Amino acid sequence: MSPLQVTRTLPEDATDAALRADVHDGLTSVPKTLPPKWFYDARGSELFEEITALPEYYPTRAEREILAARAGEIAAAAGARTLVELGSGSSEKTRYLLDALTDLTTYVPVDVSESALTQAGQALVEARPGLCVHALIADFTARLKLPDTPGPRLVAFLGGTIGNLLPAERAGFLASVRGLLSPGDALLLGTDLVKDESVLVRAYDDAAGVTAEFNKNVLAVVNRELGADFDADAFDHVALWDATNEWIEMRLRSRTAQTVKIPAVDLAVDFAAGEELRTEVSAKFRKEGITAELAAAGLELTHWWTDAQGRFALSLSTVR
Ligand code: SAH
Ligand code: AVI
Repeated sequence: MSPLQVTRTLPEDATDAALRADVHDGLTSVPKTLPPKWFYDARGSELFEEITALPEYYPTRAEREILAARAGEIAAAAGARTLVELGSGSSEKTRYLLDALTDLTTYVPVDVSESALTQAGQALVEARPGLCVHALIADFTARLKLPDTPGPRLVAFLGGTIGNLLPAERAGFLASVRGLLSPGDALLLGTDLVKDESVLVRAYDDAAGVTAEFNKNVLAVVNRELGADFDADAFDHVALWDATNEWIEMRLRSRTAQTVKIPAVDLAVDFAAGEELRTEVSAKFRKEGITAELAAAGLELTHWWTDAQGRFALSLSTVR
């Protein structure tokens, strides 16, 4: 069995410093915001996995359907010896690619969630002796330094996680992914597609309340890491469709006028009754839009696959 190698690309205290900065800046801005990467402590990663099994949350099933049907075509087009996966989480759908990429030697999962990375990585080295798994604890929005592994490289960014970046962040992110690719390498990108508002809102406001718990988990992270006194019961989960920006927005709405203390950043944050804190955007895409965004980053979309119901797309792009 080949060992699992785990590399932390950030110093131990960098996460803490980044969380402080994001909490300070986000909770003193108008309207209040927090970046979605802070959902994913061990509990948040578990809750996300529960979301993927909900009847209302179609993206995971739709993307799995595409991968099951198209992994052979993807592998033939990419011919990769190294698979890098950004925001890999449980790596559950990745197995279709790992099975299909016959020349693959190395898998590099990249995630901020150490628990998700080590669990998935350990399971993979046990199931696939011979595959070298080099897990990176890293923020994919920061400059990534990938290990020196054999090319060609396929960089996969699945799940529609690109939609959790704001448009300007997305442009910077795609440009930095372009910088990771050499001629002959490729980007496999999962994008959730624009569809009926009621289907979208249900996917982010499920009947069992799992997404509400996931949304409120960010408050538990800030309480634990920064000594804050958020009361999760004093906030309501909100999911709404922004038709102008074509994204779902998740918010936490304060039930009452309240003040939350966050000692580690020396803040007392006032919430008015009904005031909302934006915790996530989840943009939905159209083929023309994402093709143009990829082109602006120097990438050319060469393949486009959707599930049978046209809910979700996987695209393959190469350097121009
Ligand atoms: N790709 C998986 C998981 C999607 S959930 C799937 O399709 O099911 C999003 C994943 O991205 C989580 O595992 C989360 O920890 C990770 N993530 C979110 N923001 C990140 C960031 N800025 N850098 C690295 N990983 C991030
Ligand atoms: C990880 N990401 C693509 C999910 C999404 O659908 O935007 C996160 C999520 N938020 C609420 N439910 C799932």
